[in-house]
Amino acid sequence: MLRAILCAVSVFLLPAAAFADNSVLTILYTGAMRGELEPCGCSPENLSGGLARLSGFIKANGEKFGPYVLVDAGNSLGDDSRQGRLKSDVVVRSFSLMKYDAAALSKDKSHADSVKSFKKYGLKPVGDVPGGKRSVRVKRGKLALNIGADSAAPLKGMLNVLLTERPTSELGQVEGWDVVVTSSGEVLDEPITSGRALVVSGYPRGQKLGVLTLSLDENGRISGFSHQWQALGNDIKEDPKVRGIISEYDGKVAELVRDEDMPQTGLSPFLGAESCQECHRAHHEGWKSTRHSAAFGTLEKAGKPRDPECVRCHSTGYGEDGGFYSISATPELAGVQCEACHGPGREHARDFRPMQPAGESVCVKCHTAERSPNFEFNRYIEGIGH
Ligand code: HEC
Ligand code: HEC
Ligand code: HEC
Ligand code: HEC
Repeated sequence: MLRAILCAVSVFLLPAAAFADNSVLTILYTGAMRGELEPCGCSPENLSGGLARLSGFIKANGEKFGPYVLVDAGNSLGDDSRQGRLKSDVVVRSFSLMKYDAAALSKDKSHADSVKSFKKYGLKPVGDVPGGKRSVRVKRGKLALNIGADSAAPLKGMLNVLLTERPTSELGQVEGWDVVVTSSGEVLDEPITSGRALVVSGYPRGQKLGVLTLSLDENGRISGFSHQWQALGNDIKEDPKVRGIISEYDGKVAELVRDEDMPQTGLSPFLGAESCQECHRAHHEGWKSTRHSAAFGTLEKAGKPRDPECVRCHSTGYGEDGGFYSISATPELAGVQCEACHGPGREHARDFRPMQPAGESVCVKCHTAERSPNFEFNRYIEGIGH
């Protein structure tokens, strides 16, 4: 009995004593977010992640890890498009709110605007970019860390953390580094080793936060570690500040699609499902009862009715002549309608000429492995309401 109590007490005291000794350090890491500000929610596999939850989690739980550093290994910004640049700004601003200790930016992935974002929010990117730093030095109690992106420059007497984009198969020489965080997009369930270094990889698209806890000996060398993936599901409370930043972004994205810029192509070859109804009542009723007919409402609920990255699969004829453009300009083509599968129907309705054949190849334009990983034609065809 007494022994049991003593045991419980020592288990309880151990981590606290260890923290005071500064022999435990946690590295919270991300990388390879690729501008994914939040999960799209298209399938159960697409429900985890997002900057608002990441920040909510860190604010609520960061301290519980004891001394920690927060790093991003790169490949996390948007691409060099108008929308991509807006995403980059959200990512960097959120990093700044979360107080990232270091975030990597590489030359070929950076552009003038991404570097500008870093400056604007008081962060310096780690990497060989204009305005970037070769490394940052961070103190946690007695422990000094060097977090850098130049694999040739570990520092003596410090715990060295390398941020890289290189895949684990091409890491090469990492002599002198204690921990390597890559943003190659590989999924490593557990850390691997390269020489003396522990190697971890940021979870693709920010779906999970990496948590690497190191035990350090009296010389500051790693003597043990534990690792876990923190999922970011809807059980995690969002940081309202980051949510606010994303809502602002949604507004700016909506402004990118201006009705006055809609290409003028004359009479649209698309008619809209209402026009099919008069001759195909049964098909129309069947379709009405499916999720396809409500697919645009889904985007309205998600706050993204004008986001081209969502609209293209949740509407009819997007990107084609006379297809869906915006909910204000082309409301009759919102949602996944008949003509998304059968092709434009104006001529057919006039002279009954055959429609484009509809089969699996049509479905997988939208039911991609990423958005609809459970898609199986034979099962899904039962659900189209015909
Ligand atoms: C490549 C096509 C594609 C893109 C792009 C896309 N979606 Fe989807 N979305 C789908 C498909 C297909 C489904 C149905 C998946 C399934 O059930 O297998 C779906 C389903 C959904 C659902 C689930 C609806 C429900 O009732 O459960 C939500 C929410 C959603 N999408 C939101 C979005 C948002 C937000 C975006 C943009 C960030 C987006 N989608 C971009 C194809 C896409
Ligand atoms: C998700 C894709 C999809 C949507 C949306 C869709 N269809 Fe179909 N439809 C098919 C497929 C697949 C077939 C069977 C293969 C074929 O005939 O090309 C089919 C067949 C048909 C046929 C041929 C008769 C039959 O039942 O085989 C008609 C008529 C038809 N659809 C009308 C419509 C109308 C009208 C709408 C809208 C109210 C609609 N469809 C919406 C995919 C779709
Ligand atoms: C004025 C009546 C009329 C309208 C409007 C009409 N259809 Fe049809 N549709 C027909 C008739 C009649 C057939 C049968 C023709 C045949 O079997 O040759 C047919 C056949 C079809 C078929 C199956 C044969 C094929 O060509 O693939 C599809 C699919 C179809 N229609 C889709 C549509 C869609 C989608 C719309 C709306 C954009 C639409 N139809 C509007 C009268 C109409
Ligand atoms: C233009 C894009 C697009 C095409 C083409 C398309 N789908 Fe879909 N599909 C969607 C979207 C988006 C959803 C989710 C709608 C929502 O709930 O917001 C969906 C949902 C579904 C669902 C409901 C899934 C569920 O879990 O309830 C079925 C079934 C389905 N699609 C079957 C098909 C089949 C079969 C085809 C091809 C014949 C097809 N779809 C073609 C975009 C598309």
